[in-house]
Amino acid sequence: MLKQLEDSTRVVNPKEGFVSILGFNLFYKQFGRPKKGEILCLHGGPGATHDYLLSMADLAEHGYRVTFYDQLGCGRSQVPRDASLFVPERYVEEVEALRWALGLGRPNVIGSSWGGMLAIAYALKYQRNMTSLTSVGGLHNVPLCVREMQRMKRQLPEDVQRIIERYEADGDYENPEYVKAVMVFYRRHICRLREWPPDLTYTLDHMNKPVYSTMNGPNEFTIIGNTRYWDVTSQLHKIRVPTLILTGKYDEVSPVVGRDMHNHIKGSEFTIFPKSSHLAFWEEREAFMERVLKFLKKHPR
Ligand code: ALA
Repeated sequence: MLKQLEDSTRVVNPKEGFVSILGFNLFYKQFGRPKKGEILCLHGGPGATHDYLLSMADLAEHGYRVTFYDQLGCGRSQVPRDASLFVPERYVEEVEALRWALGLGRPNVIGSSWGGMLAIAYALKYQRNMTSLTSVGGLHNVPLCVREMQRMKRQLPEDVQRIIERYEADGDYENPEYVKAVMVFYRRHICRLREWPPDLTYTLDHMNKPVYSTMNGPNEFTIIGNTRYWDVTSQLHKIRVPTLILTGKYDEVSPVVGRDMHNHIKGSEFTIFPKSSHLAFWEEREAFMERVLKFLKKHPR
């Protein structure tokens, strides 16, 4: 396990507020000035908040304006009553409307996990409005990702596996003993830092359950929500925007998924962080920022 270096944003004086997008108030936060370009960060979950991405504000020190926001139903953004709005297609339109409303021009879009999946879906429709695409532990094929997660589950200690199986057989996903066993998976495959950054803990404590269970499921490796069959492999060849695919050696969205994405997106770059799982932007913060900056510099606005 690695020692945590630092736990919050280094860039100060963010601008924050609410913006009305497709009829709902969404919370956003921006760091830096867009001397070299705009970066738009998309969070995962689905149902998480932007907070666990905040180390990426480091990129603002290098001439980029970095924008974070909480997706519909998430974090400080408005929560609709209608759960039928929690579908990838609507979130794609939300990104496009937000890009427009905040005047981001053609941003570099960075998506983590589900945010990576959203960035890919966004690119498939609106890549003309992007400068580049970066997927961090993102996915294009949920069934493949789930198969890999099942493999990682089978590598957990026997006693942990037995507990997981026992409660899953009854669908008792809330049982504290089950939740504790799930945490063993998370400590291996989501964040390997001994102490988790407070921004990550904040996000996990503020997950929006309706969004998460509608789109994902009861936990990370039980994807039974409406994204369970999502697979855009056959469309990836249409992505022409410069693409960087990042993953961690121990990522719950395993390097097998990242490599497959890389094989289908022409000219894409692929990097595996050797000491990271799902959140290399905390687990190997400096190396992560360096890698992203190297890519961004190659593709100026
Ligand atoms: N549930 C995963 C995430 O978005 C895929 O974090």
